[in-house]
Parts: sequence; C-alpha cells; structure tokens
Amino acid sequence: MVKKKACIFISGKGSNLNNLIRHSRVNNFPIKISLVVSNNKNAYGVRYAKMFKIPYIFINTKRKNYENGILLNLKKHKISFICLAGYMKIVSKNLISRYKQKIINIHPSLLPKFKGLNTFSRMLKEKEIKAGCTVHYVNKELDSGNIILKKSFFIKPNDDENILKKKTQDLEYKAFPESIIKIFRKN
Ligand code: GRF
Repeated sequence: MVKKKACIFISGKGSNLNNLIRHSRVNNFPIKISLVVSNNKNAYGVRYAKMFKIPYIFINTKRKNYENGILLNLKKHKISFICLAGYMKIVSKNLISRYKQKIINIHPSLLPKFKGLNTFSRMLKEKEIKAGCTVHYVNKELDSGNIILKKSFFIKPNDDENILKKKTQDLEYKAFPESIIKIFRKN
C-alpha cells in the first residue's frame, strides 16, 4: 500500500499529533506523516516530530507572505493531505483551494454546535446534555466544512471544563484516525 504523504499543523500540546504519528506507523494506515508545521516556536508538540524524526518547520504568521514558506515546504515534501490538529490560525483561502477536500480539522464540540473557541465553558453555560468531537473538512467558513465523523458522550453533573476536555480528547484520539481511514477507504 502506498501511503499518502501528510502534513500535520499544530500550535500547542500536540497530543493529537502524537496519536496520529503512532497510528501512521501501522502498516495499513493510509497516511505517512512527512511534515509538521507549527506557528508556535514553543509548541510542546514539536518534540513528537523530533522524537520520530519527522521534518518540521516553524512559521511566523506575523510575517507578510508567510504562507509562501508553507506552500514551498508542502511541495518539497510532496504533501497531498493536511490535518489541522490544534492549529490556532485560520488557514488561508489560497491554501484551502489548493488542497480542496484534502484538509481536515478536529474540533472539540458536536458541530454545528459551538464553533470557535471556549467550547467547554459555553456547553456548560448552555446546560448541554451531550459533548464530543467532530472531524470535518476545512472550507472557507470557520468550523463549517462537511462533517466526516462525530463522537459523543453524555455530560455528567460533575463534569467541569477540565473533565470535559479530557473526555473529549480521549474521543479525539479515536475519531481522528478513524476519519482518515474512512476518507481513504472511500477513494
Ligand atoms: C484538540 O482538543 C482539538 O479538538 C482542538 O485543539 C486541541 C488540540 O490538542 N482543535 P492537542 O494539541 O492535539 O493536544
């Protein structure tokens, strides 16, 4: 099986990156992680790229034309698929149109509910019954592309923001790899 070369974009902890790297090392997993992009020099997650000897780049999104550097590296590493895993920047229209239906994101809510930031505090405030995560294609609107997969759980009375985050991330570690398998099984 020829694996697609994938790039993971991160900004922080990188636990989803770590999880995807571990899955990608299994023979029949459809992608090989060939590049990591971080917009944050101090992102903890970059250590997973180092640990697994995966090329990584830092980008300074304050610089004009910073995206040229990303595009060059995506080309250099022959990247055909992109996963946003806790990437806290908006991806440009240019990149989205170049990688049409080839960029996916994981979001910590049951979309279309709670797009954007601070999902857990908003869920608690709204007295939601269920929480969870969604993997979706990235389009030009924030957290609005076609949904690939959702996983949910019932919120318990004692669940605070930290507990919700932990439970959601545990589901994310299943949902992200499953989505990737689902996408490539279709093609
Ligand atoms: C995840 O919870 C994801 O839903 C959100 O950002 C978080 C990233 O966590 N988009 P990590 O950096 O993968 O640990």
